[in-house]
Amino acid sequence: MIYLNKNYAELKDSYLFAGIAKKTQAYLDSHPGQKLYRMGIGDVSQPLCPAVIDALHAAVEAQAHAESFHGYQPECGAPFFREAVAALYAARGVRLSPEEVFVSSGASDELGDILDLFSPETPAMVLEPAYPAYLDASVIAGRKIIHVPASAENGFLSSPPKTMEAALIYLCSPNNPTGAVFGRDQLQAWVDHANKTGSVILFDAAYEAYIEDPTLPHSIFELDGANTCAIEICSLSKTAGFTGTRLGYTIIPKSLTRQGLSLNSMWVRNRTTKTNGVSYILQRGGAAVFTPEGQRQIQTQIALYKRNAVTLTAALDTCGVWYTGGKNAPYIWLKCPGGMDSWSFFSYLLNEIQVVGTPGEGFGRCGEGFFRFSTFASPEDTVIAAQRLIGLFA
Ligand code: MLT
Repeated sequence: MIYLNKNYAELKDSYLFAGIAKKTQAYLDSHPGQKLYRMGIGDVSQPLCPAVIDALHAAVEAQAHAESFHGYQPECGAPFFREAVAALYAARGVRLSPEEVFVSSGASDELGDILDLFSPETPAMVLEPAYPAYLDASVIAGRKIIHVPASAENGFLSSPPKTMEAALIYLCSPNNPTGAVFGRDQLQAWVDHANKTGSVILFDAAYEAYIEDPTLPHSIFELDGANTCAIEICSLSKTAGFTGTRLGYTIIPKSLTRQGLSLNSMWVRNRTTKTNGVSYILQRGGAAVFTPEGQRQIQTQIALYKRNAVTLTAALDTCGVWYTGGKNAPYIWLKCPGGMDSWSFFSYLLNEIQVVGTPGEGFGRCGEGFFRFSTFASPEDTVIAAQRLIGLFA
């Protein structure tokens, strides 16, 4: 007898972005040849930077010759990749050993996989509106969910609750979808709460490269005490255009223990069992992001996406639409005009001006009435989308 995981019955019919892709395709099927302006899923439009492309080509070439060929890579990451990440943290004043850095095939994969470290009895605390994979992965695991809704009143940055219950706490800063970023004191409060309650924070830092304000923390490990309560999950997707290439990294400090067990050692055991590592070629490409040249080149791309944010927020200003985000983050979170609900607004924009965004309700109940634009489209498409928004609302 096979017993299936009945928790799947508790999920919505489809994952948020799969649902949007389906609705968008249905529109295209009934309007053949129509051009869409895609500000929905945060998928980048710009190519990999030259430093990465050169490193990828060189790695492919190495694989073509017996004397430079590489077989299996260490499951937790090639030393050159782990050292490159540790050096980036060192430059920010965070001391890590390369053994505290794990390569991954991307943050979304890792956010699901890492749950292997925790038994399903551990509740998950989700600060909403939230990236939907946090909730869905925890529902699949059968966890109790502690919903912590945020609102415009607290700047979409919730404070720790009074409860002393230990939980797996998902934090995302800069936030997807709201673009809100925790200040040092606010993040310190979460770190203190986690240490006091024995919780573990899963800190999603996928958008840290978009922080401009020098007072805001890029990594949770910039805060006192984080190395005894946090795991940081990072991605090269939005930092360096790896959405289709897939590469990320995760920091698990050696000092993070619960019930006498080291989460770092457990993750080594997990990775050595469940993966054969990430390809040599990809890790070479990824390591190039951390070179001075790579860092300069990705900043040019990030600046381009930031100009898209200016284009879109200027249009929203002209339209008199309330929004937040788009400054230290690549997402703009806006109030649907005219009191429209978020899925009606999705359909309205798609049908009237062929602009695709993401309904706020997809990020949790408190996201109803809000809408998210990503700033990763091409500048040309972004300008047209902005003009169309002005044409519709101004
Ligand atoms: C988003 O649009 O929220 C993200 O791009 C989705 C993802 O990273 O999986």
